[in-house]
Amino acid sequence: MKFVVLITGISSGFGLETARLLSQEGHIVYGTVRRTVQPLPNVHYLQVDVRDKEAVRDAVAEIIEKEGRIDVLVNNAGMGIGGPLEFATEEEIRLQMDTNFMGLVHCVDAVLPYMRQQESGRIIALSSIGGLMGLPFQGFYSASKFAIEGYCEALSLETKAMGIKVVVLRPGDFATGFTGSRKKVADEAALQAYPIYKTAIEKVEHDENGGLKPIVLARKISQIISNSHPRNGYVVASFEQKLSVLLKRILPAKWFARILGSYYRL
Ligand SMILES: NC(=O)c1ccc[n+]([C@@H]2O[C@H](COP(=O)([O-])OP(=O)(O)OC[C@H]3O[C@@H](n4cnc5c(N)ncnc54)[C@H](OP(=O)(O)O)[C@@H]3O)[C@@H](O)[C@H]2O)c1
Repeated sequence: MKFVVLITGISSGFGLETARLLSQEGHIVYGTVRRTVQPLPNVHYLQVDVRDKEAVRDAVAEIIEKEGRIDVLVNNAGMGIGGPLEFATEEEIRLQMDTNFMGLVHCVDAVLPYMRQQESGRIIALSSIGGLMGLPFQGFYSASKFAIEGYCEALSLETKAMGIKVVVLRPGDFATGFTGSRKKVADEAALQAYPIYKTAIEKVEHDENGGLKPIVLARKISQIISNSHPRNGYVVASFEQKLSVLLKRILPAKWFARILGSYYRL
């Protein structure tokens, strides 16, 4: 079956690969961007900053006007801030939460009235492994993804009877534009107060740069869309990172904290 799909943030990374793959598969793909990009064939571009509720609502209204329905929302747009929690400014914290969490809320609020009316729809939300464990020096990023986890769990229950399926994706480390776009908090002062920050963030960036290719996640999204009974969530990651998710679930918190701390050399 071919679906009308909206993907947020298709200028790079997961969004770009997913837009490319789904359009090649024949789905009707709409994608949001904030800047000028080399357009993909058979993809409809919409200028949207997901922090802007009105812009999101207008974009969804445009899709409905043209296609008469919306089947899938892939809520992908996101960014990360890095640094000791103590050194994040109010502005940086709001940017993090407004983009990753409120951006999702805006998109869901915009598509839900139509999905309810259709009595069908699929919402695929990008969380992260960092939405299952608090990552050191990415604390506000983790907080934004924990917020997504809680929100989606509730959303799934509220909308199940309406034929709407919510699926949460938790990628591990992937090589995308994410690393280069990370906003690092007040580096000099933070480095002095938290000397361990430098090695920890270097490890994070090293892991991301050597991570999986975004097409791996795009293929998972394609499978979820064509699967009539997808699970509520998926971890898409290396064996070691999948293991860390399992250990987080089964080990006493103190043991898991020791493992995570030693991994980041804290
Ligand atoms: N890469 C990883 O290792 C990893 C792991 C777990 C989860 N994730 C999640 O995966 C998602 C996609 O990230 P990515 O890795 O593909 O990174 P990416 O290559 O940096 O792509 C992020 C996309 O989000 C867009 N975006 C950022 N802020 C936006 C805003 N306010 N409004 C609209 N669009 C905005 C960016 O657009 P611009 O070009 O305009 O900035 C870009 O298209 C994010 O939610 C991220 O948290 C990534």
